[in-house]
Amino acid sequence: MARDGAVYACQSCGSVQTKWAGQCPACGAWNTLVEELQARLPGAMAPSKATKVRGLAFEGLQDETPAPPRIATGVDEFDRVCGGGVVPGSAILLGGDPGVGKSTLLLQVAGQAALRGARCAYISGEEAVEQVRSRAQRMGLAAAPVKLAAETSLRAISDGLKREQFDLVIIDSIQTLWSDAHEAGPGSVTQVRAAAGELVRLAKSRGVAIVLVGHVTKEGTIAGPRVIEHMVDAVLSFEGERGYPFRILRGAKNRFGATDEIGVFEMGDAGLAEVRNPSALFLNTSGERAAGAAVFAGIEGSRPVLVEFQALVAPSAYGTPRRAVVGWDSGRLAMVLAVLEARCGLSLGDRDVYLNVAGGLRITEPAADLAAAAALASSALDQALPQDCVVFGEISLSGEVRSVSRMESRLKEAAKLGFRRALGPAEMDGGGALAVTGATRLGDAVRRIGEAAWD
Ligand code: TYD
Ligand code: MG
Repeated sequence: MARDGAVYACQSCGSVQTKWAGQCPACGAWNTLVEELQARLPGAMAPSKATKVRGLAFEGLQDETPAPPRIATGVDEFDRVCGGGVVPGSAILLGGDPGVGKSTLLLQVAGQAALRGARCAYISGEEAVEQVRSRAQRMGLAAAPVKLAAETSLRAISDGLKREQFDLVIIDSIQTLWSDAHEAGPGSVTQVRAAAGELVRLAKSRGVAIVLVGHVTKEGTIAGPRVIEHMVDAVLSFEGERGYPFRILRGAKNRFGATDEIGVFEMGDAGLAEVRNPSALFLNTSGERAAGAAVFAGIEGSRPVLVEFQALVAPSAYGTPRRAVVGWDSGRLAMVLAVLEARCGLSLGDRDVYLNVAGGLRITEPAADLAAAAALASSALDQALPQDCVVFGEISLSGEVRSVSRMESRLKEAAKLGFRRALGPAEMDGGGALAVTGATRLGDAVRRIGEAAWD
């Protein structure tokens, strides 16, 4: 029997149920419903009769709005993903797996911004002040005038932020905060929502930019950052493949900028180093290119990025051939394999296929189809592509090679990095810097790869 005022909140999707169940009726997750009490004050949500109602003022669409002022933190990769710096009065959520480097990134952002004169605070609910301080020293930020605090009480934090004016405040992490107005435990949906709501209001009223750290969790015991995504102005995610030093900052939502930008960092002994030329990082430029490798000329956000696709097509030892892919969509791989088989006569159905995007980058562009197909065909035919060749193009189910956006920037970046050839849609124009091989159909491209001589 539910107690008075008790509800059950799913720690995964945030839906609220009146009855407990083993499985959340909203998202289907198991064992995620946790009893939570509503705000303790009775009738806290009921509208007060004494509240004065303001009239609703309308404005026109064409009225002038000045561009929001921005604080450039000095960490350029971070600023660009935010849309050119952080906007005062806005709230940013930074999500990511534990250990990916969120605290490191934000300490660096706060440190650099403070060195450039912004008033910055870093409030940690996870680490002691000494730990944060020693990390800052290791990162060469000992002289940055960042105000540190270790605190988990929402009341203490909001009092502190009302007493002193800051430009940028980092809260690490939202899941460690607790509000005494709610009985639910720290990290529960109720607490995370209450803390985020209060901090977002504070950001707006005080004109300070607040960055909230949110751990992405697989278990249902701690509420994930999803439950507050709608409250904040921007949602950024920090990603990295295990075993690789590269970290990618992506925008998933941004009220003040584009969401397709990425920031690239490399984790080292002295914190995160910004990678201004990602192509050089994701490419293996040493030595001959082996059969099964193709360099994709891609676009990430506003920047061209060159990255190597590696494929291995091998005889299968088992009845069901294996299909394994890292860094690319497995559905897309299945499609490209089917087109190679049906339209180009490459028989792959009884062979194991492995596809890997080098460097730990995850590619989502359809323009990568032809690069994947070229790597697969090159491995299947045991014929290496020329070392100085880039590949891009979208493939349709009928086997056509379609043109893609921004072909000129892709080719320009390739030329800049010493590539001399391109294999892609028939519509591309190398502009003289590259020898282009245009393919109207995937079959043409595969035939070209099968021919040994390119010169
Ligand atoms: P951290 O920022 O604590 O991750 P998060 O806040 O996302 O949980 O970073 C954790 C990892 O980063 C840790 O495994 C150690 C590594 N690291 C370095 O390699 N070099 C450094 O200079 C720092 C500060 C951390
Ligand atoms: Mg951390």
